Amino acid sequence: MKKRKKNPAGGKRPKQIAAPEAPTQTPGDIQPSRRRFLNRIWLILAAIGVVEFGVMLIHFFRPRKPQAGLPEAKTRITVGRISDFRPGSVTAYPQGRFYLVCLEDGGFMALSRQCTHLGCTVPWDAENQQFACPCHASVFDITGGVINAPAPRPLDRFPVTIENEWVHVDFGQRIRRGQFRDDQVVYAKNDNE
Ligand code: FES
Repeated sequence: MKKRKKNPAGGKRPKQIAAPEAPTQTPGDIQPSRRRFLNRIWLILAAIGVVEFGVMLIHFFRPRKPQAGLPEAKTRITVGRISDFRPGSVTAYPQGRFYLVCLEDGGFMALSRQCTHLGCTVPWDAENQQFACPCHASVFDITGGVINAPAPRPLDRFPVTIENEWVHVDFGQRIRRGQFRDDQVVYAKNDNE
């Protein structure tokens, strides 16, 4: 006759605990509420995105007022000493979109690189000492005066000042002109245009 093994825990066998009841909700019941919750989150995030985008647009298109006490955008630059420029030379300043012209008599002019016909960039032709527009063949002399149409007027100019041997150009102030005049040229002894 076989002997029954004793329970190592001693004594009585533990009662069998009933397995927990299966949840009455099926996955199909849970998912819709979770989906609703996620949809709400997405809606909130989308709304925040739309608001942020709107604020960004408003900032982008709103005209900016200069703040009191802060300097305005710097458009006046120092281009060099008088002695840096050879008489009869033309020096390009692409960042300011102008040429600094040093005339044979030592006078200075700052001329726009934009053709006054339709706005093409006009290169300096050092060999022929003239600005020749590649678009429709307008030609300008070293002072920006029109030699060849269709350009309707001389190249625009920018104010030049000379202070203590240093030459400055304000490329923020474009000046239109109908013709070349002597008072458009700036000399060392004349600080203001
Ligand atoms: S744009 Fe220069 S000639 Fe037309």
